[in-house]
Amino acid sequence: MHKTEDILAAKQFIMDKITGQPKIGMILGSGLGPLADEIENAVTIPYNEIPHFAKSGAIGHANELVIGQLKGKTVVAMKGRFHYYEGFTLDEVTFPVRVMKALGVNNLLITNACGAVNTSFKPGDLMLITDHINLVGTNPLIGPNNDELGTRFPDVSQVYNQELRHIAQEVAEAQGMTLQQGVYAWWSGPTYETPAEIRMIRILGADAVGMSTVPEALVAVHSGMKVLGISCLTNMACGILDQPLSHDEVIEVAAQVKEKFIQLVKETVGKI
Ligand code: 6GU
Repeated sequence: MHKTEDILAAKQFIMDKITGQPKIGMILGSGLGPLADEIENAVTIPYNEIPHFAKSGAIGHANELVIGQLKGKTVVAMKGRFHYYEGFTLDEVTFPVRVMKALGVNNLLITNACGAVNTSFKPGDLMLITDHINLVGTNPLIGPNNDELGTRFPDVSQVYNQELRHIAQEVAEAQGMTLQQGVYAWWSGPTYETPAEIRMIRILGADAVGMSTVPEALVAVHSGMKVLGISCLTNMACGILDQPLSHDEVIEVAAQVKEKFIQLVKETVGKI
């Protein structure tokens, strides 16, 4: 579990570079990085410079914190995240969430790209996460609890906040956009699932499957934050269509959906 002094060191390093206090945090998944470019009066800080952040040299995308104004709100956005499958520990994956909380963030918007398990979904659909299933067999809160950060046994009966979901739903309706809803299953990756695994995941009650989000959401709940999770269903999961899955396809669909995804997230931030 994270140490209070490490969180405060990272917080202070960031505070010395910014004015104002962010109340909304965003973790921007595949394809959503461009949303960070719409943040006004932005201060950009590479993860590598922030005390106690993991060294992210291995990751493909931009890896920086962007702090500034979006729709009149002060926000802190992660442009690029740490994934478990990259070899980062779950402490490393979730440390930025602790720092956001220390900065004053109470609402965390988490986005991702994932596969559709529910056969009524289509590639390119957006899905509000209503709940999750942790299939990875580990948990970011394992280890001695730091009571300054949160309780030993957190309640997770409402990880994805109902009011925030309601706001996102209203924004989607106002934009004439269909917003699916469903349960997100966390898969460690980096392999996608086999067809048998997807059948299992569907039987278990998931509508989508991906390789992120759950660790960050659990730490956010432990910290007492409200979480909103939105997924871009970039492809049908393995075995639904008779074709192999490629990362290029995931990236391509994420790029096609980018505009509506950005609009949804931006307008939702404006109404939080
Ligand atoms: Cl099908 N599975 C997982 N685990 N992650 C994904 C995906 C599928 N499609 C995009 N990301």
